[in-house]
Amino acid sequence: MKSFVPLAASVRRLIRPTPAASAPPLKILLAFDSFNSMSQRIALECQSKGHAVQNYPFKTPEDLMEVVATNQPQIIICPFLTRKIPPEIYLNKKVPCLIVHPGIEGDRGPSSIDWALREERKTWGVTIIQADKEMDAGDIWDTNTFSIERGLGVTRTKSSLYRFECIDAAVAGVHNALTMFQRGLSPRPLDYSRPSVIGSLRPRMKQSDRRIDWNLDARKVAALIGSSDSQPGTAETLQDGVKYFLYGAHVESDFTTHAGMDVKTILGKRDDAVLVKCGQGSAVWLSHLKKEKSIKLPATWVLPEKLVASVPEIPLPPQSLQVPFRTTPKTFQEIFTWEHRGVCYLWFDFYNGAMHTEQCRRLAATLRHIKATSPARVLVLMGGLNFFSNGINLNTIEASADPAEESWRNINAIDEVVKEILLCSDKLTVTAMYGNSGAGGVMASLAADFVWAHDGVVLNPTYKTMDLYGSEYWTYSLPRRVGQAMAKQLTDSEGVPVSASQALAMGMIDRILSPSVGGFLDRVVESAEELIGSKGMEELLRRKKARTENGEFQALIQSHRDWELEHMKRCFRSEGYHGKRKAFVYKYEYLPCNASADGLRQSSQEMKEEANLLGRSYA
Ligand code: COA
Repeated sequence: MKSFVPLAASVRRLIRPTPAASAPPLKILLAFDSFNSMSQRIALECQSKGHAVQNYPFKTPEDLMEVVATNQPQIIICPFLTRKIPPEIYLNKKVPCLIVHPGIEGDRGPSSIDWALREERKTWGVTIIQADKEMDAGDIWDTNTFSIERGLGVTRTKSSLYRFECIDAAVAGVHNALTMFQRGLSPRPLDYSRPSVIGSLRPRMKQSDRRIDWNLDARKVAALIGSSDSQPGTAETLQDGVKYFLYGAHVESDFTTHAGMDVKTILGKRDDAVLVKCGQGSAVWLSHLKKEKSIKLPATWVLPEKLVASVPEIPLPPQSLQVPFRTTPKTFQEIFTWEHRGVCYLWFDFYNGAMHTEQCRRLAATLRHIKATSPARVLVLMGGLNFFSNGINLNTIEASADPAEESWRNINAIDEVVKEILLCSDKLTVTAMYGNSGAGGVMASLAADFVWAHDGVVLNPTYKTMDLYGSEYWTYSLPRRVGQAMAKQLTDSEGVPVSASQALAMGMIDRILSPSVGGFLDRVVESAEELIGSKGMEELLRRKKARTENGEFQALIQSHRDWELEHMKRCFRSEGYHGKRKAFVYKYEYLPCNASADGLRQSSQEMKEEANLLGRSYA
């Protein structure tokens, strides 16, 4: 067996799989470019149905054929594969090879979501297609559509559509296709004469297709930027005449500050984002920029220092932390709250869930402020709209003058956030995982008294992918929930995702409130209000206050932090961490050899270009 990414045996044993009612489980080969959120979720869902899943990171067509010949799967599924499949595989109809295509029936090509968003479609879909000679033109196993509108008034991005709606639709599609296969049913041919087949073959979207007319209203500009966010980004020349890739667009609703300026003028800055003038008196915030062949960073880190220094700071208005219940800020504001019926909901919507030092400091200060001023008895930590949190920010660490030193500052800053949660004595704390989380983000979430999620959430609790021991008080929070042995296993293994159901079974989380992200917010609000109204609430709070204000408890958690940071000090000096971090942020495979980073970077760029050329979607 080749490159196997197994789910740790004891994690698997915890979940008693439910095999398809009438058919024996299948032997499935999952072939993918990367074990991304889509691949992980499909793997976990297939396992939960009792199927035997072999995860195979695609290398070459010959290698794939060898793996198939050796392992004899009954069916191959490609949840995220941008490479061409060899005829030996797609011609063998006895072992069908199914492609998860992020487009409606009839849609073909590598830029499906990009076109759907660019063209402002109201609905989109995912289709399970049998691999064939012509890309995406094979027989149809299943197709599922969804609405592109999600509410909350945030700018829709390509990656958020992929991560939430597409993955849910793909899970349903794969499930239906497998059931059909088990029943001996065949897929139907792609038939454009059917009225329901409204997709078409679309070319790969080029940067020239992604161009922005800055005379448009900011809402439109933000939507256009979102259609290419987070990959590949929209390339545009800004005020200084330099080309940047643009990310993290937020519409500014205050029109007063920027009348009479030229479009594309940088009007101001806030929390590392910049405000750029658009048409009709409007303006858009950009949180992140990237120069060609570099990495994505907060906008003010990328623009020339002189330009950044010349524009005014545009502070958030006083009292802006709290926004009306069930709305999002009408400006660029990463941290905000809803106060509703005795519950404080705290959102920290950091780009890609990565939390750099200053963001952690702002979040810790907000937690202190809430503790001091909010009358709420329950504090719900919502995390971000795309990820709950992915821990410290590896990109800003990579870009800093001294990455080891910056890693140290960042881990201490995130630990302060976790400490504020652990020592929140006057409120019960709840984590409500709207999005996935990874590494320190998972551990930070466990600091709350209760952890709730929806069934679509995937957790990646390990730090091993970065060769880190980890902090965020995990040595306190994780074993307390799952026991020492499981805690060790989860953190020792590299790249073992855990589904919400598995996390629930092992006690890592307390409740699953809804089958998917749809309806999750309603259930969070209901459940938080039930908690407030529950009989045991006052007693719980009394016991919590006594524990958290006790010096022994405070010393205990401090000792966990000290222990973890001792290990982290060593990690931050290790070659493994710096090598893996560099590979992660520049997106190449980590090769622990003496090859120069520059050489590797270049080959990573080539890999990306190849993926773009052949790619179905690069979310
Ligand atoms: N710092 C900086 N960027 C991060 C990040 C972090 N900690 N975690 C994720 N990202 C970025 C990725 O680079 C990617 O960027 P892109 O949009 O520009 O391509 C984006 O977030 C999405 O991540 P991706 O890896 O594509 O998503 P996924 O759902 O497939 O995988 C994780 C999620 C959490 C498994 C994976 O992102 C990961 O391992 N992150 C690192 C976690 C970590 O080690 N944190 C530091 C220790 S606390």
